[in-house]
Amino acid sequence: MTGIERDITIGTCRLILGDMRDVLPALRPAARLCLTDPPYRLTAGGSSTGEMGGCFAKSAYDNSGALFDMVAWEEMAPLIGGALADDADAIVMVSDREEASARAAFASAGFGFHRLLVWDKITATPNRWYMPNCEFGLYLYKGRASRIRDCASKALIRCPQQDVSHLYLGADVPPQERRPHATEKPVALMSYWMGNSTDRGDLVIDPFMGSGSVLVAAMRSGRAAIGIEKDPKWFDVACARVADAARSAQAELPVNARVSARQEAMVL
Ligand SMILES: C[S@@+](CC[C@H](N)C(=O)[O-])C[C@H]1O[C@@H](n2cnc3c(N)ncnc32)[C@H](O)[C@@H]1O
Repeated sequence: MTGIERDITIGTCRLILGDMRDVLPALRPAARLCLTDPPYRLTAGGSSTGEMGGCFAKSAYDNSGALFDMVAWEEMAPLIGGALADDADAIVMVSDREEASARAAFASAGFGFHRLLVWDKITATPNRWYMPNCEFGLYLYKGRASRIRDCASKALIRCPQQDVSHLYLGADVPPQERRPHATEKPVALMSYWMGNSTDRGDLVIDPFMGSGSVLVAAMRSGRAAIGIEKDPKWFDVACARVADAARSAQAELPVNARVSARQEAMVL
């Protein structure tokens, strides 16, 4: 039982529709990096003032924090460990509220902890107890730790997040600029982290692929990648984005991904 419902290869990228809990143990791909953004608890909408709409409207979201169907950190961490090579890195995105439990689960699964990477999203979410404008990457290693490729890199990176306000605030965003996935991550951010933990030709996995930003980054920078997504809607979006990346001239350029990511993002 592999749990693979669809399996599409585009250039250096393999996109799989299925549940990562079934697919990862079946594949055991021995990747050099797991770069992923699992669904985690959000505390944003459903407030008594009713200012949020769309996916954060009170009718759709009960403000318990669980907007998405989540996989427990304790279940996820050993699955990711089993999918990596003997010596490999993992960067797992977390919110500040999830960091402690996620970090403990990955430590229990045998990962070493390097550092908390900080993504300054620039825009902030309204909140009475400081407005959150950052998310985090748990920078972990399995086996022997290897140094990052560009040792001038800093742990804090400033990089604009995708504007998805049209999804929950009904903002008037031109159709061509509308991003379908509520938690799409910037390709520049994915490229920056990926370029520091891998070399061209290395294999990267993203077991929570969503709309495919990690795979787009891999395609642009000459890495191989496997993405797993359980929702057919996001799987199709990812396939389209990766196919676009494969067609783009940038996929052909022998540029170092770290360099392009540093230019695109504002590294502090
Ligand atoms: C936070 S989103 C990732 C967004 C992605 N980084 C992007 O840039 O579009 C997490 C994704 O994991 C998917 N997901 C949740 N549980 C899953 C599972 N058990 N197996 C595979 N995918 C899952 C969700 O459908 C969602 O699209």
